[in-house]
This record gives sequence, structure tokens and C-alpha cells, in this order.
Amino acid sequence: MTASKRQQIVAGNWKQNGNLALLNSVLAGLEAAALQTVKAVVCPPFPYLLAATNNPGVAIGAQDVGVRDQGAHTGDVAAAMLAEVGCRYVIVGHSERRQQHAESDQTVALKASNAVQAGLLPIVCFGEPEAVRDAGQLYTYLRSQLEPVFAQLGSQGLQGAVLAYEPIWAIGTGKNASPAQAQQVHKYVRDLLAETHPEVAANISIIYGGSVKPANARELFSQDDIDGGLIGGASLQVESFVAICQAAE
Ligand code: PGA
Repeated sequence: MTASKRQQIVAGNWKQNGNLALLNSVLAGLEAAALQTVKAVVCPPFPYLLAATNNPGVAIGAQDVGVRDQGAHTGDVAAAMLAEVGCRYVIVGHSERRQQHAESDQTVALKASNAVQAGLLPIVCFGEPEAVRDAGQLYTYLRSQLEPVFAQLGSQGLQGAVLAYEPIWAIGTGKNASPAQAQQVHKYVRDLLAETHPEVAANISIIYGGSVKPANARELFSQDDIDGGLIGGASLQVESFVAICQAAE
């Protein structure tokens, strides 16, 4: 059990992986684990969302949402559609979307806002490339990613939103940020949010992502300002995902 009273959240980001069989075994594994305090969120690819939300025991999230409302936007998915099929969360601004689909900070902020308008809780990802950290630009970079989101959502939109710090150099590399490195950034972000939205800063869940495994989860999650994790590779195995959820209890 971590010291903080904030909601602990562990979200599995499947990316473009998995199938119905994995979905069924992850949902069954989570049900059997009977988690008490941590909120487990499963974020499979779009085609599996409806099958996932038919199992009411686990919170389900999408991995992305369109930037516009419904209309002539082939391939896009509106926030209201995700809400209608029972999603509770949606990941926005993952570094893979920012890099592979050229999503700007403003686009990410708009997506987060669309999610909120539809009654979804956005999981807003941010994080630096290694070169930015090496150049001593870490905090300037993170600030420029986050300030548009804070401004767009406002205090009301930030209620229930989740911030996910994912240093790009730690994603899928097996090289996680150390608990101290991650804690330092999470504290910085909470303080930054407190400058403009003091009423939400203390309670917002800030989760860490980047090579979280059962072996390092507990130490990461025990840091004061780390309120759970966003899990990629290790969310694709039932035992490891459940073990990581349990580490946040
Ligand atoms: P990883 O991915 O756990 O495989 O490093 C995390 C993420 O990209 O959300």
C-alpha cells in the first residue's frame, strides 16, 4: 500500500497487439485477483473495446480518440462513440502517436478536451526524448507539453484526468527511469499544476510508464508522487499485469 490517498491506477496499453483470447484471459485474471484499492484499466485496440466493456468488472480505455466530432473523417473515432460502447478512459498524446502521427501539443490538448466533453477520463501522456534530458532541457520541454493541456481542460476538465509521465528513452527499452528520477518529475508536474490549478494538483493521479515490470513496480509506485503506472509490454501477459496491479495496492 502506498502512502498517498490518491487513486492508484494501473493501465495496460496494449498498443497494436493482442487478440480476443488475450482479452478474455486478462479480464478473467483481473477478476480472480479481486483488487481492492487500485483501479486497473485495460486499453486494447479499438476492435476489442465492445467485447471488453461487456465485462463490467474492469475499467476499459481506448488508446486514442479523434480530434473532431463525428463527420467525414475516415478512420477516426469520436469520443462520444467510445463513451457509448462503455469506455471510461482514453489515452491521449502517447509518444508513439506524437511521433508516428505528428500529433502536436495542441492536438493532444484538443483530444483530451474532446474526451472530457464526452464524459471520458483522459490519460494524458507526456515525456522527453533522451537528448532533451541530456541537453538540460527536461523541464522546459515537459512544461511546453503540459501547459496547453492544463489550459484547455481547466480545473473542471482536470478532475479525474490522469497524467502519465513516460520518458521516451524508457519505453519498450527495458531501461526504466529510476524511482528517484521519476519521483522528481512527478513532483515537478504536481507543483507546475499547482501554479495554475491548485485545487486539482494535490489529488490528480500522476502515473509512470516506461519499462514497468513486476520486479520494479513496487519501488516505483511507493514514491510519494507516483500514483500507479501505464504498462506496455508487461500488460500483454496476464501474470505480469496482475502482479503490477497488485504492487499498487
Ligand atoms: P513499456 O511501454 O511498458 O513497454 O515500456 C509503456 C508505454 O508505452 O505505455
